[in-house]
Amino acid sequence: MAGSGLLRYEYYHTHFDPDAYIKTYYSVLDDSVIGGAIPFILERQQDIFKAGDVKGKRLLDIGTGPIPHSVIPAVPFVEDIYLTEFSASNRKYMHDAVFGSGKQDYANIFKFVTDLSDKSQPWTKLSEEFKGKVRGIFPCDVLKDDIFAGSHFPLFDVITTSFCLDSASPDVDTYGKVVKKISKHIKLGGHLVNAGAVDGSFYFVGEEKFYALNISADEVKAFWKGAGFSIQSWDEIKGSPECKDTDFSSAFVMHCIKES
Ligand SMILES: C[S@@+](CC[C@H](N)C(=O)[O-])C[C@H]1O[C@@H](n2cnc3c(N)ncnc32)[C@H](O)[C@@H]1O
Repeated sequence: MAGSGLLRYEYYHTHFDPDAYIKTYYSVLDDSVIGGAIPFILERQQDIFKAGDVKGKRLLDIGTGPIPHSVIPAVPFVEDIYLTEFSASNRKYMHDAVFGSGKQDYANIFKFVTDLSDKSQPWTKLSEEFKGKVRGIFPCDVLKDDIFAGSHFPLFDVITTSFCLDSASPDVDTYGKVVKKISKHIKLGGHLVNAGAVDGSFYFVGEEKFYALNISADEVKAFWKGAGFSIQSWDEIKGSPECKDTDFSSAFVMHCIKES
């Protein structure tokens, strides 16, 4: 482990092992891993997109990391997918998986999401559709004023993000500022689907202990409302007290619409 404190910011470039992260949190999709938070999030995201109103041409995902699960339920409902990520090593990992010869195929996530809607379809159909719609994997630092480091995008119809804002924000006030910055990239009437954790303080990636922001559900909701969004749904699942990998009290999925 690097030093004695919790790792954050630049340590994402050097100490965040994509394979270790995926193995811990995404390789088994059942209640035995962080209280079943990941299958819960995938099911809720699927419900939100399947309901029919959450769609559009262009989707932006913020802080995709090494795994695009936050985008997978949205794939049939959008045309162009822009992934963004802070760490160069995660961007390379994702690039190799989507465009190159990476060994990672996210088969269990694609299969889980495919089975939620049509068990007769092969998971590879959704995977191919996803790969065909990804327009790039762009640098992103939500703590900077210019969060996309010089990349200029038209406004998005849909924004997704998962476990990024609570990992990146050093304090609750900064979380609020990040929300405001993100809100400038979505159209009026656009949809935001945010998954995250509340009341947490750390999570492990292999042996490395990363910082997480201790933020409450009320604070998260208030920041999005304050940035002009109306909350359409908020669902949460309790964390597991026995879990040694992270300590959040609940994981949530929030769907909201940009109104002003
Ligand atoms: C816990 S991982 C989440 C990854 C993925 N979205 C998921 O749901 O599993 C936190 C992500 O936030 C990214 N991150 C950390 N600091 C950031 C920053 N300042 N700006 C943008 N992303 C950041 C990390 O690189 C990492 O991919």
